[in-house]
Amino acid sequence: MWTLVIVLPAVLATGWAQSATYRFPDGFFLGASTSAYQVEGAWNEDGKGESIQDNFFHNHPEYTSGDTGDVACDSYHKYKEDVQMLKDINADVYRFSISWPRILPTGDLDVINQAGIDYYNNLINELLANGIQPLVTIYHWDMPQSLQYLGGWPNELIVDYFVEHARILFENFGDRVKWWTTFNEPAVFLRGYASANIAPGQNASGIGDYLATHAMLKAHARLWHLYDEQYRATQNGSVGITFSFGLEPLTNSTEDAEAAERARQFDMGIYAHPIYSAEGDYPTVVRERVDANSAAEGRPRSRLPSFTQEEVQYIRGSADFIGVNHYQTDYVTSGVTGISPSKTRDSGVITSVSRIDSSGFRRSLNWIANEYPGYPIIITENGLKDLGGRNDVTRINYFADFLGALLEAVNLDGVPVIGYTLWSLMDVLEWDSGFTAKFGVYEVDFSSPNRTRTPKDSAAFIAEVYGSRQLPEQYRL
Ligand code: BGC
Repeated sequence: MWTLVIVLPAVLATGWAQSATYRFPDGFFLGASTSAYQVEGAWNEDGKGESIQDNFFHNHPEYTSGDTGDVACDSYHKYKEDVQMLKDINADVYRFSISWPRILPTGDLDVINQAGIDYYNNLINELLANGIQPLVTIYHWDMPQSLQYLGGWPNELIVDYFVEHARILFENFGDRVKWWTTFNEPAVFLRGYASANIAPGQNASGIGDYLATHAMLKAHARLWHLYDEQYRATQNGSVGITFSFGLEPLTNSTEDAEAAERARQFDMGIYAHPIYSAEGDYPTVVRERVDANSAAEGRPRSRLPSFTQEEVQYIRGSADFIGVNHYQTDYVTSGVTGISPSKTRDSGVITSVSRIDSSGFRRSLNWIANEYPGYPIIITENGLKDLGGRNDVTRINYFADFLGALLEAVNLDGVPVIGYTLWSLMDVLEWDSGFTAKFGVYEVDFSSPNRTRTPKDSAAFIAEVYGSRQLPEQYRL
């Protein structure tokens, strides 16, 4: 009897604490993600202009699998099915991107493509009619090719074109879109100015990517200020930016700990520190190392441009939340690798191994919350690729594991994550891997003209988690 009296409440208390840990807090939103080039197709329909992705995939089969986004999932025509799929998995939010040349075919204001505006209006209205909030990525890597002919992101004049484009989006969609991110994963798309093998293939390593970084940060800040000054009062939304992140030291040596910190600053801090840190500007370690290498290379100035004090202040604080994409953790060690000049070489870090590791995810979230306090975090992408099949138990286990780690970060560590959109709603054009690498919770039959969508087992699992707003008991630690 005594044992019962003492043990029972303890068991109950543990069970209660456990179920509280694995439950999403009130207001936490759950959803799925895609991007325009990867799903829309209709690459030259209804007045859409050519993007740098169209151009690259058409002209550089040597760097791709030969698959293109010409038709992709045909979401331009099948968006209503996409919305139904979101509804079926109990999504609160759909994160999609807007194709810049579908709105501005030449990048300039001479032609505003009404058919493009209509398409996104239809998608947004269909989402809202089904109780799903849009979260819009403004730039998921598809600049109008005509602006690339003017130099693309390394040319700071492009910033003005981007601001004009964003104004059209806020004007036309801002009454219904409350969540905006300016850029998806600068660390990834800016490589297009460092190497030949990702769009736009501008092979200017360690120079073009830094020039583009500088302009990208100014563009981001301009958009946030535009929204803040001219639209926030009436539209009442939030503007952020999304980074890819997941870096840890290979061993517990001090050297590896320092290498991991350098890696974080070169991979995320270079973009995030100017916006989210208390002092603004590029991280000191990045500034010092690029300046020193540039001098050692005999250059008259640093390959990484400098902001004026006024620019530092303008960029600092220009966000309402932090978007984070996480797939795996890269474990790093100290050492010099990469061509000269390059960002990798400047960082003095070697990625030793990449692991799918949910504890790395939890630690990464804690790092971000400590480094940039005061900002809510949205996980804008997280997912697992495979080679296909509807019985995707590995994907279910991945989501269970990573959602568990996310909930521990939120409910045990106090990391202020407010939403999660998995990658991806359906199988998409996975960039240079084409249609062979699958991330979707819905399968897409790319050999059928209908691009038939079929739920995988993971869709049912996600529907259960999103519907119950908790991790099912058998998956809890
Ligand atoms: C990108 C997506 C991509 C995904 C999976 C992210 O880097 O934002 O466009 O498909 O990772 O590789």
